[in-house]
Amino acid sequence: MTATIKASQGAPFSRILAVGGERGSRVVDNAEMCTIIESSDEWIQQRTGIVERRWASDDQTPLSMTVNASRKAIERSGVDPAQIDAVLISTVSHMQQFPSLSVSVASELGLQNPAATDLSAACAGFCYALGLADSMIRTGSAKHVLVAGVEVLSRQTDFTDRGTAFLFGDGAGAVVVGPSQTPGIGPVVWGSETDTADIIWTEDWNEALESGTKPVIHMEGNKVFKWATTFIAEKTAEALDLAGLKPEDLDVFIPHQANNRITDSMLRRMKLPESVVVSRDIQQMGNSSAASIPIAMEALLEAGDARSGDTALVIGFGAGLVYAGQVVVLP
Ligand SMILES: CC(C)(COP(=O)(O)OP(=O)(O)OC[C@H]1O[C@@H](n2cnc3c(N)ncnc32)[C@H](O)[C@@H]1OP(=O)(O)O)[C@@H](O)C(=O)NCCC(=O)NCCS
Repeated sequence: MTATIKASQGAPFSRILAVGGERGSRVVDNAEMCTIIESSDEWIQQRTGIVERRWASDDQTPLSMTVNASRKAIERSGVDPAQIDAVLISTVSHMQQFPSLSVSVASELGLQNPAATDLSAACAGFCYALGLADSMIRTGSAKHVLVAGVEVLSRQTDFTDRGTAFLFGDGAGAVVVGPSQTPGIGPVVWGSETDTADIIWTEDWNEALESGTKPVIHMEGNKVFKWATTFIAEKTAEALDLAGLKPEDLDVFIPHQANNRITDSMLRRMKLPESVVVSRDIQQMGNSSAASIPIAMEALLEAGDARSGDTALVIGFGAGLVYAGQVVVLP
């Protein structure tokens, strides 16, 4: 006899209930950066848009920043922490194999036995985790999911490499995702590219330890740039299409904050109308990888440039190569 398994069923839809962020507290402007590498404020601004970046101070860690960002998001959501039954954190900056950062964050926040696991999807990680949270809520494996992205890439940067040293910033961004009667998170467009592992990479820990160093970021900037402005621009348009929307239906565009010129190129390719509010948070933050989208989302809402209920397109892309994006209703 074949027994029938009882399957779980969740809410009809999910949505982001609130967002919170914490930036590295040390401001490093381009003038200071040019005391570290041979470059100029003009070159950095013209090639990337970055005016200054935020680095974690000595007392800021991936754990402390994620806890602070998550606390803000949970308080703003009005959800009782005891009701958060899953934690998904995307990071490549948690330098401990186990316990996972998600378990440590859940413990610091006093959450009650949530499912907790980390994801590694570099700069696409927040959108990967958001896609998973949406599926978990709609299939009934969780009701309220804490999703966060955190990076402290300043501690994994090769400051002798002037092709990467000026790019990165440190921070954490978190959202609470919960059930909804109306769609608040559109279908995720996600994937990975094969044969591109050597475009953005770090050394293997074992190899680095043998040579007495620690793994640092290496990147072929030109190749990333080309990939982002062609293939990723197409995938971004696909996320909009899958949500059943047209460019003119969009209020806000929050691409991963990698480079303002990549953002400009995406805007042109997707023919987004000028009325769409576009995040340029990279100017003050640098590229904070998995944290960049929720941090940029919080900034737009706090500045009043975007409003709760606005329809926003988010897309993350980076090392792997991997990408993920979807349309969301802003909290
Ligand atoms: C990194 C990036 C800004 C470099 O810009 P680029 O226009 O591709 O620069 P190139 O590497 O082609 O170098 C162009 C010139 O600038 C010089 N240069 C490189 N870094 C420099 C720096 N920091 N300051 C001044 N000059 C620099 C190079 O030596 C080269 O000089 P040359 O023409 O005399 O040989 C750009 O490739 C980029 O942003 N790529 C995407 C990276 C990204 O988003 N990564 C994260 C994805 S998650």
